[in-house]
Parts: sequence; structure tokens; C-alpha cells
Amino acid sequence: MKFFIDTADTAEIRDLASTGLLDGVTTNPSLVAKTGRKFLDVVREICDIVDGPVSAEVTATDHETMLAEGRKLAAIAPNIAVKVPLTPDGLKTCRVLANEGRMVNVTLCFSAGQAILAAKAGAAFISPFVGRLDDISSDGMNLIDDICQIYSQYDKFTTEVLVASIRHPIHLIESAKMGAHVATMPPSVLRQLYKHPLTDSGLAAFLADWEKTGQSILDA
Ligand code: G3P
Repeated sequence: MKFFIDTADTAEIRDLASTGLLDGVTTNPSLVAKTGRKFLDVVREICDIVDGPVSAEVTATDHETMLAEGRKLAAIAPNIAVKVPLTPDGLKTCRVLANEGRMVNVTLCFSAGQAILAAKAGAAFISPFVGRLDDISSDGMNLIDDICQIYSQYDKFTTEVLVASIRHPIHLIESAKMGAHVATMPPSVLRQLYKHPLTDSGLAAFLADWEKTGQSILDA
């Protein structure tokens, strides 16, 4: 499973990239707005930090302008995945960009039918939003299960399931069990994955016993 982080905060991206666990980054207009910085500057900086796919979203809603924006974003770096919303114009734009050899991430997916359309439009990634479905009392993980099952029936569907709107480690673990290709998560969720109280208490006990020996590995 690939790990992307869902943020436009370049300090966070730099820090998590140094773990060697990061395979890519996703951004959206809300995340960019939070930084208070210029969109293209942020995207350029992220592409310099990370070699894997960096999703940058178009903000137009009509096909012609989306296409122009998508081409401009794709020209920033070879690892840009142009993000388009799951609308008729978005999928039309996806088809054209995919035919030009660009990676496209189709976002705001909330149904299996929408995911089938995105695969047929040549998307490199489909982004179903699990947390936002849970928020309205619908089971987000059921959607991931459905999409993974459907995509696996067809060799010609090469679209990767990129689980988005992840709110906690259980979303990620369940997605991994279902065979989702990618999980994009806030930096806080990635950090939560390391955590277990038995790891902390076990390490404290090992170190306390080691200190009693008075030894040092580097001085031995
Ligand atoms: O980037 C898309 C998605 O991950 C947003 O998550 O938490 O705003 O629903 P959230």
C-alpha cells in the first residue's frame, strides 16, 4: 500500500519525507488556502521534496478552463497528478489529459458508479472520501470495499484506489485489508500509526535495565 499525505504544509511534508515512508502528496484548494501561500509556489516546492505523485487540483468547473489549468499544473513537474472533480466536465478533462499521458486524480467520489466512470475516463487515481461519508452516517469503508472489488474484475481498469478523507488509523488499516492501492492521510494519522502504549512502556523498561549495566554499545 502506498502512503500519501494530505497536506499543503511543506514543513510537514519535508519532515515526513525524511521517514522514507512517503510515496506521494495530495493537496486540495482548502489545504492550499490554509497555508496563505501562492498555489503554484506551494506545488513547485512539494514537487522538489517528493519524487512520487503530487496531486494539484484545478479550480475551474468548465471543461475548457479545467483543461488549460490541468495542462499548466502538469507542466510544473513530471510527478504532478492533476486533480479534477467527479463531474461530467471533470471526467471529460480527465480523458483528454490521460490521453496526453498525464496522471489524473479524480476527486470527490462518493459512489461506486462514480468510480466506474473515473476508471473508464482513464484516471490514474480515484479518490473516494471515507470520512465525509461517515460524517453523514453512511459507511465510508463499504464504498472502498465495493470499488476494490469492482476494479479487480477488469484487467483494463488500471485506476488505483486512493482512499481519501481518512480520519484515523482504523480507516487506513481497513483500507489495507481491502487491498486499496493508496491511502492519503493527514500527517497526524501517519504519526498515530507508530503509536502503541506497550511499545512505549516496553522501551522504557529495556532502557532502564540497560542503564543498570553501565555499558555503552558505541564505547564497547
Ligand atoms: O483531499 C481530500 C480529502 O482527503 C479531504 O479530507 O478530512 O477534508 O474530508 P477531509
